[in-house]
Amino acid sequence: MKIREDFLPLNRPSIGETEIAGVTACLRSQWITTGPLCKTFEERFQHLTGARHAVSLSSATAGMHLVLTALGIGPGDEVITPSLTFASTVNMIALSGARPVFLDIHYDTLNINADDIEARITPRTKAIIPVHFAGAPAEMDRILEIADRHRLTVIEDAAHAVGTRYRGIHAGGFGRIAIFSFHPLKNITTGEGGLITHNDEQLEKKLRLLRFHGIERDAWKRYGKGGNPEYDIETPGWKYNLTDIQAALGIAQFSRLAEFNRRRAEIVALYREGLKGVTGLELPGNPAYPHDHAHHLFVVKILAMERERFMEKLSDHNIGYGLHFPACHLLKYVKDRFGIVKLPETERAAEKILSLPLFPDMTDGDVAYVCAAVREILGGAEGGRN
Ligand SMILES: Cc1ncc(COP(=O)(O)O)c(C=O)c1O
Repeated sequence: MKIREDFLPLNRPSIGETEIAGVTACLRSQWITTGPLCKTFEERFQHLTGARHAVSLSSATAGMHLVLTALGIGPGDEVITPSLTFASTVNMIALSGARPVFLDIHYDTLNINADDIEARITPRTKAIIPVHFAGAPAEMDRILEIADRHRLTVIEDAAHAVGTRYRGIHAGGFGRIAIFSFHPLKNITTGEGGLITHNDEQLEKKLRLLRFHGIERDAWKRYGKGGNPEYDIETPGWKYNLTDIQAALGIAQFSRLAEFNRRRAEIVALYREGLKGVTGLELPGNPAYPHDHAHHLFVVKILAMERERFMEKLSDHNIGYGLHFPACHLLKYVKDRFGIVKLPETERAAEKILSLPLFPDMTDGDVAYVCAAVREILGGAEGGRN
């Protein structure tokens, strides 16, 4: 096949006139840090999820830091999380002084296996962090039932889940805590950013204090007309606020969410059609329960050759790729600090998974090109098998 001249990346955020107009208007307003646009952005998520509270942040990682701190999780505590997640979650658990306890996944969907939860619960377990992997929801009914029976806090990792619904309920809408990410790779972006949704008044107070130095009023309330610039601090906090410039971008992106996710679904359908029956390749499975998939990632499994060689061949074809994720229980510091655990399905999947390009501005021709390249690469693989 003829190699394309330009590089097709794993992802490219879709930034158009709506975003440019929104950010420009923010710049012209002269108010650029946390202010009215952050509030509007938070309201969009309250409305989307049905959660009572939404706290915008500089990243989802910051959100995990704040939530673990606000819940008082630290030394002597255990937090259950899948190993197949972004390392930021495990880093935050480890940095809190708590111990990450890893869950196995379903090999086909890469979502957590709820059957694996109870065996991991001990008297030290404080929380469980299900990940809505690649935009498909985790099995929330079972997770919530188990968590409630054992009095565990549920923190949904909704980084992939803007537009994800489980049995009609949007991620963040289960009355628990959920954390979204707006990194440029995500379904909507603020450049960098995150947001926590939840329903708890006490938690809300703590999160807002911890988000901003421990000061009750952010800059908008201190320096706006009639504001009070004084403050006192009872407990020190971090500086994890989102800015209005970022929120302007986020609000514009949010207005295009349905369009983005519709296109993502179309691209996935084209992939499924174009890659049907390719020997040595497994396509992602979908959970059997009713759900809306946000199609954040399209993660295939390469069976017919070493993943590294496959990646080289994709590069030769000018195609980008991603790895979601290197298994966290196999990271060096995790093994050194927390010991070796065996997670058979995670390990079986982890060495084969690879994310193919998926973003709303991909053309049908781009998808066809990737499919043809994958067919060609795996067609030439020795010892290919289905
Ligand atoms: C599953 C998951 N959790 C958490 C994060 C952290 O998000 P952020 O980059 O906004 O801190 C990511 C982002 O890559 C992610 O994919």
